[in-house]
Amino acid sequence: MLLLSIETSCDETAAAVVRDGRKMLSSVVSSQIAIHAEYGGVVPEIASRKHLEMITPVITQALADADTDLSALEGIAVTRGPGLLGALLVGLSTAKAIAAALGIPFVGVHHIEGHILAAFLEQAVEFPFLALVVSGGHTHIYRVDGFGHYQTLGRTRDDAAGEAFDKSAKIMGLEYPGGAMIDNLARQGDGKAVRLPRPLINDNSLNFSFSGLKTAMLQYVSKNRDSVHGQHLHDLCASFQQAVCDVLVAKTEAALMQTGLKRLVVAGGVACNSGLRLHMGQLAGRLGVQLHIPGPALCGDNAAMLAVPGNFYLENGMASEQCLDATATWDMDKVGRGSL
Ligand code: KG4
Ligand code: ZN
Repeated sequence: MLLLSIETSCDETAAAVVRDGRKMLSSVVSSQIAIHAEYGGVVPEIASRKHLEMITPVITQALADADTDLSALEGIAVTRGPGLLGALLVGLSTAKAIAAALGIPFVGVHHIEGHILAAFLEQAVEFPFLALVVSGGHTHIYRVDGFGHYQTLGRTRDDAAGEAFDKSAKIMGLEYPGGAMIDNLARQGDGKAVRLPRPLINDNSLNFSFSGLKTAMLQYVSKNRDSVHGQHLHDLCASFQQAVCDVLVAKTEAALMQTGLKRLVVAGGVACNSGLRLHMGQLAGRLGVQLHIPGPALCGDNAAMLAVPGNFYLENGMASEQCLDATATWDMDKVGRGSL
């Protein structure tokens, strides 16, 4: 099947053309980051308006890059949720309109299901596997037994890993979103230089908590405000990144041991982090686990990732109805259980 996929859940307007849920023919991502940076975070109303402005040019570009046009499309996959409601509605309404006009099916997909399955666009991944999803809104560990079969094993109790990166970056005076900036600065820093907490690292659950780490960063920067620059800033970034990675690796290791799973997928924007990629590689090597982390372009928000589950659902007769609503929240454990 030749699918168009559309993503507008947050601050990226994205479209892609994918064949058979595996072969990415094009992927266009128009980022609004520069616009929201001025406000220190995503402003929902501005995000919706910008999506409206960009959705048609982005889809047109995706079709052109794939050297195809609307008439060749056989289906559409679109993010139904979770995300900002106004932003989601732009993508969903567009998908419905194109599907109705062309007389082809569309399917509403869970954004995180897309992140988890993005690796399928680059590598042959087999079920079952453990998935660690680390993004701006999620820090979750799932057991994945097949398309639409997700079981939440652990999750953050407060901030997501990406949120912790972005808030800590802001505390250090770095521009929003600071995750990638911390990663860059950390490259020349010493991860052992500043002692920071590793919340919940030794508890028996597979849950996370990052708000205490953020508070520790706030206290450290307030006490050392005059010296947090130059090498000291590099060291603080490296120490923060090490603390986050230590927790993510420890919980992932515990989940792999508990489930006995031999395959691991790491996904979401924070999976771009060079330190995390390195440590997950070491963990997988130590445990003899097969590791799949998509390339950076498929870790962050994109539309191509939605075509992987989208293709499966459409091929199996699970198209959505025209009355489908966008949803700001959506439990992954309910995905694929007739809730489409
Ligand atoms: O998956 P994503 O693009 O959007 C959401 O669905 O949230 O993730 C965005 C998050 C942001 O918090 C951003 O700062 C973080 O991913 N991020 C990183 C890096 N690149 C992006 N965090 C740490 N290191 C990076 N290199
Ligand atoms: Zn995302």
